[in-house]
This record gives sequence, C-alpha cells and structure tokens, in this order.
Amino acid sequence: MKFIGEKMNKTNLTNLVDQMTLTEKVDQLLQLAAAFYSDKAEEKTGPMSDLGLNEDNINNAGTTLGISGAKEAICVQKTYMEKNRLNIPTLLMADIVHGFRTIFPIPLALGSSWDLSVAEKMAEVSAKEAAVSGLHVTFSPMVDLVRDPRWGRVMESTGEDSFLNSRFAAAFVKGYQGDDLANDFSRVAACVKHFAAYGAAIGGRDYNTVNMSERQLRESYLPGYKAALDAGAKLVMTSFNVVDGIPATGNEWLFRDVLRDEFGFDGVVISDWGAVKEIVAHGVVADEKGAAELAIKAGVDIEMMTTCYSRYLAELIAEGRVAESLLDEAVLRILQLKNDLGLFENPYRGADEWLEAELILSDEHRQIAEEIAAKSIVLLKNEQILPLKRSEKVAIIGPAAQTQDILGAWSWQGKQSEAISLVTGARRLSDNIVVGQEVFDYFEPSQAAIDEALALAKSADKVVLALGEQEWMSGEAASRSDITLPEAQLDLVKLVLAQNEQVVVTLYNGRPLDLRGIDGAKAIVEAWFPGTEGGTALAKILWGDYNPSARLSMSFPESVGQVPVYYNCDNTGRPYESDPDEKYVSKYLDVSNYAKYPFGFGLSYSQFDYESLILEDQVMTENRNLRGSVRVTNQSDVAGVETVQLYIYDKVGQVTRPVKELKGFYRVALAAKSSQVVAFEIDESMLQYVHTNQKMSSDSGEFELLVGPNSRDLLKVTFALKKNR
Ligand code: GLC
Repeated sequence: MKFIGEKMNKTNLTNLVDQMTLTEKVDQLLQLAAAFYSDKAEEKTGPMSDLGLNEDNINNAGTTLGISGAKEAICVQKTYMEKNRLNIPTLLMADIVHGFRTIFPIPLALGSSWDLSVAEKMAEVSAKEAAVSGLHVTFSPMVDLVRDPRWGRVMESTGEDSFLNSRFAAAFVKGYQGDDLANDFSRVAACVKHFAAYGAAIGGRDYNTVNMSERQLRESYLPGYKAALDAGAKLVMTSFNVVDGIPATGNEWLFRDVLRDEFGFDGVVISDWGAVKEIVAHGVVADEKGAAELAIKAGVDIEMMTTCYSRYLAELIAEGRVAESLLDEAVLRILQLKNDLGLFENPYRGADEWLEAELILSDEHRQIAEEIAAKSIVLLKNEQILPLKRSEKVAIIGPAAQTQDILGAWSWQGKQSEAISLVTGARRLSDNIVVGQEVFDYFEPSQAAIDEALALAKSADKVVLALGEQEWMSGEAASRSDITLPEAQLDLVKLVLAQNEQVVVTLYNGRPLDLRGIDGAKAIVEAWFPGTEGGTALAKILWGDYNPSARLSMSFPESVGQVPVYYNCDNTGRPYESDPDEKYVSKYLDVSNYAKYPFGFGLSYSQFDYESLILEDQVMTENRNLRGSVRVTNQSDVAGVETVQLYIYDKVGQVTRPVKELKGFYRVALAAKSSQVVAFEIDESMLQYVHTNQKMSSDSGEFELLVGPNSRDLLKVTFALKKNR
C-alpha cells in the first residue's frame, strides 16, 4: 500500500486538487458515520440508499465520524487509501467532549473548577486516549454561552459568562492540540462548536430559534468561540439555529464576513449533523439543492451525514449558480487539515493497538479524573455537618447511592460499568457505613426500598441522601420544562428528615436545578456528572480528604419561573434595589429576582474573609493601568483554595451595561490561619464593550470595582477612566 509519504505544501495540495475529478472533489466534502464502513453490508446499504449514495461516494467520502479503536481505525484507513485513486487519506472524527474512555466531569462541572489547568489536562488525556485509538479530530470544545437550565446541553458548556468561557475554550484547545499537531501524534485537532449562539434557544428548548441583536451576539456569545480560534482550533462546527433569521449553516454574513474575514479563520467549517439539509425545514430555501447552494456560499466545507452537496453541487456548478472555485477552496481546506495532522506522511498517525491497551483507562488517567472531579464538586450548603468523620455511622441511601450512571451525556466510549459509585468510593474511606440492599428507583421506588432507607437513616449518626438526574435527562434533545428533582426523591427527603435531621444531600445532575424541597438538608453537595472516578472524588469530599474549592459557573435559580436568571444582568429603568418596598419596580410577586446560588458561589471547609480592597489611585488612563489589592484570610484551621473574583460595573455606557462583569479571577491556596494580599491590575481593555458601531471600545467615566468570593458578596470601590480623546 503506498501513500504520498512526504510533507505536503500548499503547492502540492493545490496540484492534488487539480488532479481530482469534480465527483472526487464533491465526495471530499461528504462526512459519513461509522455504519458506512461496517463490514456488515446490511448496516451500510440501508443508509446508502436513503442518502442516494453509491460505493464510490463512500470510498471517496473525505471524512468519517464515530469510528474508533486502533485496529478498526487502521483497517478503515487502509481500505480507504487502497480504494482512493489519489491515495488521499480519510479523517476520523468523533465527539470526545469530556473524555474518551476515561470520562471526566461534564464541562459544566469543569467550568465550576475555575481552574484552567483542569481543562487543559482533561483535554490532553482525552486526546491521548482518542489518538491512540485512531482518532484525528474531536468535536470539542463546545463553547456556547448558556443562561437557561431548561436546555439539556448546558451540561456541555462551561457556563453563563463569556470571560470564563473564553479562558476555558483556549485551555481545552491547548490540551487537545498541543504545540505541534503535525508531529505530536498524541494530540487531536479541536473543533469549536456550535457557531453561533446555539445556547440561546428560546425557552431552553433544543433546536429552537435564537433571536438577538448583533451587538448582544458580539458582546456575549462570540468571544468564547473567538478565544478557541485564537488558541488555534482547527475546525468550526455550525449550529442548528438561525442567526438573525438565517440558519447558521447557510449564513454567509456569519461564516464569511465574521468568522473568515473578521476573525481570520482559514480552517475547516463542518456542518452539524444534518444541518445543511435542515436549511430546507427552516424555510429559507425550497429544496436541498437550494440548501447546498446556500451552505457552500456560506463557506461550509463538510456536510455531516446528509447529501445535499453530493446530489446537487455538480449540477449547481454546471448551471453556473456556484463557482467551482468555491468547491476547490473547500477541498483545499480539508486537504490542508489532513496535512496539518501529518496524515499524508503517516495516515495511521497515532493509532497503536499495543499502546492503546496500556493507555486507555490507565490508573494514571483514573487518578487524574479523580483529582479533576474533586475540583469540580461544589459545596452549596454546609451547616456544620461536613466533613463526615470515620467514627460516625453513616447511611448512604437514595437512588444515586450505588449508581454508576455518573458519566453524563457525551461520554461516548465511556462505560458506566467502569465508573466508581459513591458507595464504592465511601467504603474505601470508612468501614462505618450502612447501605441498602434494595434497588432504589429514581422515579418510583418500591415501598421495600423506602422502608429500608428509612430504617437505615434512623439507625445512623448521619445520612448521605444521594439524589439527582439520570444521564438521559440532559444532553442533546433533553430539555426539561420542570427542573426540579423527581417527586419521589423530594418525598424521600421529607421522610428521611423525619427519621434523622443530620442529612447531607448529594446531587448528580447535568444542569442547575430548582432545589426547592431539599432545604431541610444540613448540607448540599453538587457533584454534577463527575465521570469515571466520580464516586471516589465525591466520597473524598464528604469525608474531607479533599477540601471543596469549586464555584458555580452557572446560576441556580430559585425556580424555573425565574429563568433566565444570570449574574450579569442589566439594571433596568426600575431596579428592584432602588426601593424593595416599591410596587412598581422590576420584580416578581412570588419570587425574588436573585438566583438561589449565584454565579461564582461555592463553599469550602475553610473560612475565607475579605478585607482592605484598595486601589493605588482613583483615576486611570488608556496608558496608565490601575493597580490594586485585597487581603484574603483563611480564618479556619483547614488549608484550602479560594477563588478570588474580580468584577467591574461601568456605571454609564453608550448602551446599558450589566450591573457587573467578571474581568479576572485568582485561585489562591491558603494554609490554615494564614492571609494573603492578592494583587491585581486593571487595564483599559477590561473596560471595553461592544458599542452601537459593533466595535469594542471604552468610554471615559466612573466604574465600580467589585471583589469577593462570588458574584453576590462583594467589596466595592470606585475609580474613573480618563481618556485622552
Ligand atoms: C450532534 C451535535 C454535535 C455533535 C454532532 C456529531 O447533533 O449537535 O454537537 O458533534 O452531532 O455527533
């Protein structure tokens, strides 16, 4: 079997495109799922006929998704290269969103760590396992800003703030791609998604329409994707939604003017699954031929799992509706990506069966997953009941006590059977634990299971009541209009509290929940879907082997009726704070305006106090930054890590400004009874925002600097920016 075997340059690649027939070029834009490469004919012929494909299309389809395993990947590539007239290698892609086989906490949990090294490490290990299993590209990071917990895919985001999302996006890309993607075969190319603003679906209903001003899009939603691109992400995936009425996947302004011209992105754009064909359902074209025309003109290079390009591009070119140069540029970008991955020199890249057996789910990777999970678990409430003592008899009860359903959505190759449950993790720490024999159903527990749980609760010093969602309740196509815990679980809380007041509730969930009904618990521990070693990490948090340091990156509402509720909201013309007793202000009759647990919130076993927020001066200019500091003291006798958060409020803008915006954060490790002065610097770029001219700039005027442990409990000082012009 021969392949080109030499480093390709732009000239080689352009020559290669010139050698390709029109059909071969169109086939290069086709992405097919694993079934098409199955050796079971029946798995292939069905989808083939549905999509109007023939054997040649499959043999020449430029990329595929959902194939993995070194042996299978090598076999698919070998067969592909033998059948491809010009020996062009294929590209293997898949969703490695928070781990390959070693599954890490869901991205919303990773966002709660506020630790960028966590994101980079997770991505690095995920890439290592994926690459040795033959993959070249991951459909990650998902960088959609989210403000509506009804949306199932909030689990896939790092949260509600574009500044924090941007920092995480860059860290994910760095971890996936490393510094030398062409030669470092332990890395994979990153595909940032979903461009753009998929997280703003109205009503939190997946695939629903998105409607916002260009200014809001630029200010809140685009920065995260841009940060991933500035970090070198090789691909961008289109989103299912419309942007200003035009489906993203056919939106020339979004992909040519903004992504390519303004952001300078010259990599590959891939549609989301079926999103090219869905342009028809959106109603902006009459048929798939129109969809193909709109998408190729928008600059979408790869069509995932539909065949508008395969069926109609040649015709559109023959009719003069589409210039062949648009096809050529798409093919060239795909070949360039293959070249950037070193596939022309070595089409098998990192695939290695023997190394795969060693690397996948190794003890080292499990240990990393445990540490990352521990950094992602948020302590929401603790009335002197945690950490637990080994001398205490602890009952661990409830539907999530022994569950291994803790990987979360988008954990494709992960196996629940390989996950460590809370009870398993706890048993490694203490032998003073009692658990039930009955299976406790999440929704309809048997009376026997309830009776057993109550008896255990009564007999114990303390109760860990493990509750939550199951994996299928979040992720894609999993929006919920009611984000409370299942009724049976809320009933159980009441019954258990009647037996024992010393109750700790732990939660596995893929979204902020409406936690009404568990207020009687003395502690609430938010574990999200913590991944393969989730039970180990959660147990170690409960028994104090880890001191919780995570802080929410998405607000928990009091109730779903408040949604969307997020920290960086506008003041409005009738702010509630102006007079809480006034009727005619912006408020509800039946619930507060504020999140139950706000952005940035999380507790620790330590006690951190803030004082002496000072600025060296009260006035700054574009050229003279403002330095300041705050003193943080750990009053407790437990060492811990505090995340000092820095927010700014622009009191008068050309457009209304949020009441605060995150502009910096500092993770500070503090020994027991110790104190540290945390220094920071404010520069003019931190005061910029998108003006009505759609450009970023700052204004002279007064600002508030707010510093503290979360977005609510803040010290405040004011300062001014004086600009020369
Ligand atoms: C899905 C998702 C996208 C994913 C793709 C491939 O529909 O929207 O995030 O990468 O299809 O699985």
